[in-house]
Amino acid sequence: MTVQSCVKIRNEWDIVAARQMGRNVAKDLGFGTVDQARITTAISELARNIYLYAGAGQICIEEMNEYGKIGLRVIATDDGPGIADIRQVMEDGFSTSGGLGAGLPGVKRLMDSFSIDSESGQGTTINAVKWVR
Ligand SMILES: Nc1ncnc2c1ncn2[C@@H]1O[C@H](COP(=O)(O)OP(=O)(O)OP(=O)(O)O)[C@@H](O)[C@H]1O
Ligand SMILES: [Mg+2]
Repeated sequence: MTVQSCVKIRNEWDIVAARQMGRNVAKDLGFGTVDQARITTAISELARNIYLYAGAGQICIEEMNEYGKIGLRVIATDDGPGIADIRQVMEDGFSTSGGLGAGLPGVKRLMDSFSIDSESGQGTTINAVKWVR
C-alpha cells in the first residue's frame, strides 16, 4: 500500500501547509536538510502555480520504496486552464504573469525526475520524484 497525504490548495495559507507536510515526510524518510529544503522549495513553487493559474487544486506527497530505494513523490493536480505548450513553460524566463518564469525549470532542477501531463482546457498534473541518497 502506498502512503499518500494531500493538502488542498485554495489560498496562500494552504501553500504553507503543503510545504510543512512535505518537510515532515522528507524528514521522516531520512532526507538531509539540504534535500528537505529542495523538496519544500519545489512544493512551494508547484502550490503557488496552482493558486495563481488554476485557482485551486491539490498537492499530494507519496512515500516510495522501490526495491529498498526510499523516495518521495510530489503530485500537483488541478482542473485549471491547463498548459498548451509544455516545452515553452519549461524555458527559463517564460511567464504569463510577469513572474520570473523560474518556477517550473527550478522544480525540475531541484528534483530527480519531473513530468508534466496537461493539455489546454484539461487541467494539469505535475509529478516530481526525489530519492534519498
Ligand atoms: N498549474 C498551472 N496551470 C496552468 N498554467 C500554469 C500552471 N503552472 C504554470 N503555468 C504556466 O507556466 C508558466 C511558467 O510557470 P513558472 O512557475 O515556471 O513561472 P511563473 O509562475 O510565471 O514565475 P515564477 O514561478 O518564477 O514566479 C506560468 O507563467 C503559467 O503560464
Ligand atoms: Mg511559478
